[in-house]
Amino acid sequence: MGAMDPVVVYAATGYTGRLICAELAARGVPVVLSGRSPAKLDALRDALPAGAAQTAPAALDDPTALRDAAARGRVIVNCACPFSASGDPVLGAAIAAGAHYLDTTGEQDWIRRVFEVHDGPLAAAGVGAVPGMAFSHAPGDLLAHLVGAPVAPVRRLLVAYHVEGFDMTRGTMHSALEQMNGLDVAYEGGAWVSGGNRPRRAFVTFPAPIGRQQVSRYPVGEVITVPRHVPADEVVLRISAVSIAPPAVAPLVPAMTPTLGALLRSPARGLLDRAIDALPEGPAEEDRGAVRWTIVAGADGEDGRSASGLAQGPDIYGITAKIVTQAAIEMAAPSYAPVGALAPAQAVDPAGFLDHLGAFGLTWSVDVPARETVSA
Ligand SMILES: NC(=O)c1ccc[n+]([C@@H]2O[C@H](COP(=O)([O-])OP(=O)(O)OC[C@H]3O[C@@H](n4cnc5c(N)ncnc54)[C@H](OP(=O)(O)O)[C@@H]3O)[C@@H](O)[C@H]2O)c1
Repeated sequence: MGAMDPVVVYAATGYTGRLICAELAARGVPVVLSGRSPAKLDALRDALPAGAAQTAPAALDDPTALRDAAARGRVIVNCACPFSASGDPVLGAAIAAGAHYLDTTGEQDWIRRVFEVHDGPLAAAGVGAVPGMAFSHAPGDLLAHLVGAPVAPVRRLLVAYHVEGFDMTRGTMHSALEQMNGLDVAYEGGAWVSGGNRPRRAFVTFPAPIGRQQVSRYPVGEVITVPRHVPADEVVLRISAVSIAPPAVAPLVPAMTPTLGALLRSPARGLLDRAIDALPEGPAEEDRGAVRWTIVAGADGEDGRSASGLAQGPDIYGITAKIVTQAAIEMAAPSYAPVGALAPAQAVDPAGFLDHLGAFGLTWSVDVPARETVSA
């Protein structure tokens, strides 16, 4: 293999950006470190192996510097949050520079915007963009494809998360506020509709020892991306209440969601953002290792067949670095063909990509019924 083009990482100096840069360097990929603070970028370059990285400072409101940074690689990875603020400038720079775009967003609004607003310009520029190529929502999207596509068209496709031992970074907390603003959508009747005020008493059975759990609406990216590669009438995203709240208040979580959304659209949001900025940056490396996540998927085909799937793994931030790095390496190949706004399952080979993450402790399986063939 010849020398690889560099991968540009925007917000390289954040918690997730640093993990991604270290992973790219460990895999021998030259990295261009970009972001708003030249001093922090220099310090990060000096902390990486000699010669592994160069810097390209660029503020979000400087389109020329951003485009020049994006032009230094075949792929730019955006980790600057909230993505409601960083997405348009960094994606615009990728389009102007003719570079593919990846980001680590969990913000459903931004993922929807990439598909609704940027798809045409991306395709015209001959580049692809995969928003949310991270723990949330790449494995869920890939698993949904492997479960849903064989029994499509699908009446109802459920993806449900259960997470234990998760400490968030400050950036994730800011983005979580963005995510819970109550403006998210659901996919019902073959269309995206307001998902806002629909608490429901619902349960999902996870594998032992987790078992049956009360679940809440989970406004993440699969709602936007899965219907683009699995013909479906309804795509439903859930998270166990105990994943996001202490057990004592977990049963109240589904009913609290609309109230929380209204609060987060009020001036109280500024107070919460400032309180988050006073917290430690993120989990220590040893604490990240204690995380365990489980994703189950189930698809009911219109023909009466059902399929199910399971993915489990560790360390949400660590696996995000692996996911981004592998996707960036694949997209940096001169032969990479997909263009436009892309779901994870449209950007990479779903089974091959999940298999690749096996080296990091991800396990997955699907149970798909055989299709009956009738011959005359
Ligand atoms: N979907 C997932 O599973 C997943 C996984 C990991 C992370 N994420 C998301 O990735 C994002 C980053 O997370 P993190 O843990 O890295 O957070 P973080 O440590 O707080 O880092 C935030 C980064 O954004 C940069 N930034 C913020 N405002 C900016 C601005 N106005 N201009 C330029 N840069 C700006 C910061 O720059 P400075 O370094 O200069 O301060 C910093 O590098 C969050 O939205 C998080 O939710 C999602």
